[in-house]
Amino acid sequence: MQIFDHTNELHDALGEERLAKRSVGFVPTMGALHKGHLSLVKKAVAENDTVVVSIFVNPTQFDNQQDFDKYPEDFERDITLLKTASDNIIVFAPKKAEIYNGEITSKTFEFKGLEKVMEGAFRNGHFNGVATIVELLLNAVKANRAYFGEKDFQQLQIIRALVAQKEMPVEIIGCPIEREPNGLARSSRNERLSKTTRTKAGFIYEVLNTAKKKFGMESAGYIKDWVSENFAQQQLFKLEYFEIADVKTLTPITKKQKNKKYRAFIAVYAEEVRLIDNIALN
Ligand code: PAJ
Repeated sequence: MQIFDHTNELHDALGEERLAKRSVGFVPTMGALHKGHLSLVKKAVAENDTVVVSIFVNPTQFDNQQDFDKYPEDFERDITLLKTASDNIIVFAPKKAEIYNGEITSKTFEFKGLEKVMEGAFRNGHFNGVATIVELLLNAVKANRAYFGEKDFQQLQIIRALVAQKEMPVEIIGCPIEREPNGLARSSRNERLSKTTRTKAGFIYEVLNTAKKKFGMESAGYIKDWVSENFAQQQLFKLEYFEIADVKTLTPITKKQKNKKYRAFIAVYAEEVRLIDNIALN
């Protein structure tokens, strides 16, 4: 395990890998690692000669100061967990000023509307922050492949669009959602839930699964109403949005089309913790 906080140290280590024509896989994270992150790291380890994992809680992608302040951090625990995937990982944990070159602000991006819906509509500036840091990180690491979770499906599609727009020579690999035994999508934010709420939060995945079953038979409008009514009936979870959208454009469905793939997307508040999830419908 090599741990670097300076970009030039990372470049020196990776320069040797490139000279030896060894492939580099990259997994960007904000730390507070769990089995979801680890599944990406394991895939990267299986598919590349060298793997870089970045740990950086990116301030510019938080639209809510409280969410940023409460974001869990445990560097030692992260390293211990990474060692279970491989002893041979390069951890890149830059300081804010270093990665942002002194100026901690977002650039403005346009991704043909991908950035405007769902998370983009409810979290002001979020995807500008994500695209800014991911561009900086991809340029720092220059990996052959970079791994992102379908847990943040909209983010994954935006990063694919970013890489195409900037013509970056990196392959973006999407990885399936890892879940807790009750179906709750694994997330660093789950740590902030009480034990009872965390157990009951399997409800979110149950709703997504039922929506998927209904998708074959009912209209999207009917399913959206059904989800809203379901959430209105219980106290613990507050629905922010439920959307059914085309996987490529992320535009909300109007009428089902046979040749298109759709996903359902959901954002929910539980004990002031914001949880997101999604499911493939067809
Ligand atoms: P973070 O939330 O730490 O997630 C890092 C990566 O792990 C993302 O690609 C995310 O989709 C993936 N991931 C998280 N939970 C997962 C789960 N349950 N199953 C599968 N994959 C999961 O996403 C970010 O950080 C940041 O926005 C980042 C891309 C690092 C830019 O700051």
